[in-house]
Amino acid sequence: MNGGNSAAFTRPPTAELHIHVEAAIDPTHIMAMSRKNGVPLPYLDEADLRSRYAFRNLQEFLNLHYLNLTVLKTEEDFFQLATGYLDGAVGANVRRAEIFFDAQIHLGNGVQIEALMGGLTAAFGASQESHGISTDLIMCFSRDLGTQAAHEMLTLIMPYRDRIIGVGLDSTEIGFGPELYTEVYARAAAEGLHLVAHAGEEGGPDTVMATIDLLHIKRVDHGVRVMEDPKLVERLRTEQIAVTTCPLSNVALGTIPTLADHPLPRMLAEGLLATVSSDGPPYFGGNVDVNYQAIHDELGMTKNDIHLLARNSFEAAFIAPTDRDRWLGEVDAYFAAAE
Ligand code: ADE
Ligand code: ZN
Repeated sequence: MNGGNSAAFTRPPTAELHIHVEAAIDPTHIMAMSRKNGVPLPYLDEADLRSRYAFRNLQEFLNLHYLNLTVLKTEEDFFQLATGYLDGAVGANVRRAEIFFDAQIHLGNGVQIEALMGGLTAAFGASQESHGISTDLIMCFSRDLGTQAAHEMLTLIMPYRDRIIGVGLDSTEIGFGPELYTEVYARAAAEGLHLVAHAGEEGGPDTVMATIDLLHIKRVDHGVRVMEDPKLVERLRTEQIAVTTCPLSNVALGTIPTLADHPLPRMLAEGLLATVSSDGPPYFGGNVDVNYQAIHDELGMTKNDIHLLARNSFEAAFIAPTDRDRWLGEVDAYFAAAE
């Protein structure tokens, strides 16, 4: 990075399409909620917790992440969690956020679904007024919990159908292929929900192709290794299936050795609808603006590249055409004014 000197074009108006609200929780809030709710955690203090933010792979992160989520109990906790994300996102110039949440994890921790949905929607329902950010929720199935649990979760969320715009698939990728979720995704599609899924975060291009074939997704979350298969690249381009990359997360989780190894420049060169998001700011190194800055500094992405990425974020968003046009206009004006 360049010592904190932001380039004039690395904080564009943007949509953030790959953000887990739970992964936006910071260590201070984790420790405070642990004390407030009487949920013990095995950390000496906040500094000790922070020192553990060093992961060799996705599973090491998920183990710590899921342990930390045991502190979330009440509607107020979920309101605070969502508000914490919004506070950071507004500083990163996010105009639109399509936000993942892991309902199965919270219900498994004994949280009432009313508290979960009440807290999140109280914060996100008012996000336009409170923070000037348009938001919607995407419920992720936890792929390691299996098929039956996903079906049960979809049934349980149906009374809240109007509070979510789509479903996704996250958690442990290897060993839990898309074939487990074909039917539950068909059910979600029949409900008119948008379909996205994590694929190719640790798995190869074959898992991404299978996920597209079986789950009929409109966006691939991560897709780090898609460039290895020319047929897949062709398919992503012709069908304009978006790839929501999270460059700093990929480095933090050891998916790629360094930022300079990220395939994002090749994705853009091949005409893919690639976007940039944070995945989880406190865990992976910063908000979406920090990701834009880092790909400028360490991956050589130019002003034109970042302009295209910011445009892509709105092209790939699940939004009305009038909103898309307005936000694309804002992006173009930002880059016209930037040096
Ligand atoms: N849950 C939170 N962050 C995740 C990630 N990067 N991959 C899969 N599941 C997640
Ligand atoms: Zn993710």
